[in-house]
Amino acid sequence: MHGTGAHVIVLGNEKGGSGKSTTAFHLAVFLLYEGFRVATIDVDSRQQTLTHYVRNRREWAKAHDLKIPHSIHYHLPVSQGDSVAQNQRMEFDVFRQAVSEVEMNVDFLLIDTPGFDTNLTRLAHSLADTLITPVNDSLIDMDVLARIDPVTGEPRELSHYARLVQRARKERLAVDGRTIDWILVRNRISMLSSRNMRLVQTAIEMLSTRLGARVAEGIAERVIFRSLFPIGMTVFDPLDDMDATGMPTMSHKSAQHEYRGLVQALNLPLSERAKARRAAREAFEQARQHGPWQFEHMRPA
Ligand SMILES: Nc1ncnc2c1ncn2[C@@H]1O[C@H](COP(=O)(O)OP(=O)(O)OP(=O)(O)O)[C@@H](O)[C@H]1O
Ligand SMILES: [Mg+2]
Repeated sequence: MHGTGAHVIVLGNEKGGSGKSTTAFHLAVFLLYEGFRVATIDVDSRQQTLTHYVRNRREWAKAHDLKIPHSIHYHLPVSQGDSVAQNQRMEFDVFRQAVSEVEMNVDFLLIDTPGFDTNLTRLAHSLADTLITPVNDSLIDMDVLARIDPVTGEPRELSHYARLVQRARKERLAVDGRTIDWILVRNRISMLSSRNMRLVQTAIEMLSTRLGARVAEGIAERVIFRSLFPIGMTVFDPLDDMDATGMPTMSHKSAQHEYRGLVQALNLPLSERAKARRAAREAFEQARQHGPWQFEHMRPA
């Protein structure tokens, strides 16, 4: 199913509420503002947070006549089949169709997964070029990746989710010889430094080495995120609109700064994709100038 098309970014962590959907949406909007074609797929059929985020954005933009970019979005249908197996098959088909529709037509595909294990979650992980796991700042939240020694912060045996990623990596390697770049992103970092926070920092660094992942210095705990969701906006959207809704601008700016830092740390193939897009546009322009017959030659053999 995976081709050489879109760069696939998957958000995953079996720990609920770690910031997967928020991060997926922010990255999608960032990439849209950079001029890329972006698709988003919500694999969380129960909560559909990303879908609600996308919908809120469209409604807010329409109501306020805002010219802001939107991703091409897919979500799973509400389960209608009689059996679990039937529903799973239907979800699987919708997912496959969505991926094949967009993988050659967009630059980036973001997939948000639920905080629990499903067949689709596994499939999504094996498609990832970049896997982002937001981790809240506590040892409890790291427990979903490995059991952490409470005194030294050392990782002990790996947990269910870490093994799921290991399997996805093996599958990916077998399918097209590519590796998944796994990044642990610290989210909701407390502004108050304490002994516990230092232990968390040490623990996550040791954990990442054990998992073959990288750690990105992430996003602080900020109230602004609560007010952004209902209006479908991100910290990348224009500041003027933010002021109109009475949001604190300093918090907005700091959060935007942090998210930009995160994008940099992700090391996404931004310039390669931009170059590929320019080349495709030029080829299209040339073909257009030389008349429709040129299109014959552009068809794949
Ligand atoms: N940096 C942050 N500061 C403050 N609140 C945040 C931050 N990031 C996320 N949140 C809030 O945390 C809650 C959970 O975030 P989100 O829905 O993105 O997590 P999730 O991992 O997708 O959850 P689930 O596993 O349930 O799908 C939301 O209310 C969101 O607004
Ligand atoms: Mg979510």
